[in-house]
Amino acid sequence: MDATATAPHTPTSAPTPFSTLIRVASHAQHTEAETSTFMSDLLGGRLGVDAYTRYTEQLWFVYRALESASEALRDDPVAGPFIQPELARTAQLERDLAHLRGGADWREGLVPLPATAAYAARVEECARTWPGGFVAHHYTRYLGDLSGGQIIRDRAEKTWGFERKGDGVRFYVFEEITNPAAFKRGYRELLDAVAADDLEKQRIIDECKRAFDFNGAVFRELGEEFPLSA
Ligand code: HEM
Repeated sequence: MDATATAPHTPTSAPTPFSTLIRVASHAQHTEAETSTFMSDLLGGRLGVDAYTRYTEQLWFVYRALESASEALRDDPVAGPFIQPELARTAQLERDLAHLRGGADWREGLVPLPATAAYAARVEECARTWPGGFVAHHYTRYLGDLSGGQIIRDRAEKTWGFERKGDGVRFYVFEEITNPAAFKRGYRELLDAVAADDLEKQRIIDECKRAFDFNGAVFRELGEEFPLSA
């Protein structure tokens, strides 16, 4: 319109980093997840440990899908850089579930909610057929666990009396990540350097939104299973 568009202090428009695009694109859904009825009730201390257990069970199905693909994707140019052993959560979830579900038989009778089964199936499908989609699911879970996960751990310890960083909340404890803020910075650098063109990046963002939808659906089903008694 006028000269202001090319004024001396207008920075030449560097493209927005992918890590920023994906964060901004999922921001609204993140708020929805945080404020979902189930999460609010859980973190508000209004639900019993049975609800927390059921939630932890769902996580196990999702992380098993994410992490059983790790070996096959390690050398993949797109997904490979994201596979980092210090993130792995399956073993921690299994210790938590042994604590929450009465010991060595913790797997007995363990069934995913329908929304969880659909979520895990989609993760598996991406792992098999679309590394970019796998990155979307990887980001949505692990960067969240490194962030809000710490709030959930704190509330869980206080509400249900788990030992600090002990059995029941090991999922939230990343023993090998001593500086989560630095780790997240490094993770964002990986996102910014992802081997994908703009169209593929957009598809990854769309899949990230889908990942949030899956999480929302799991929360809805958990909310139905654990309604607050009026
Ligand atoms: C009550 C539940 C939750 C709380 C309190 C919470 C809290 C937070 C906080 C405080 C951050 C900011 C971290 C930072 O700026 O470095 C964050 C980031 C994030 N959360 Fe959550 N969160 C919750 C649920 C979820 C869920 C259900 C998901 C998806 C499964 C999720 C995915 C993410 C992701 C991907 C990020 C990283 C955003 C980025 O910097 O790129 N969060 N969360």
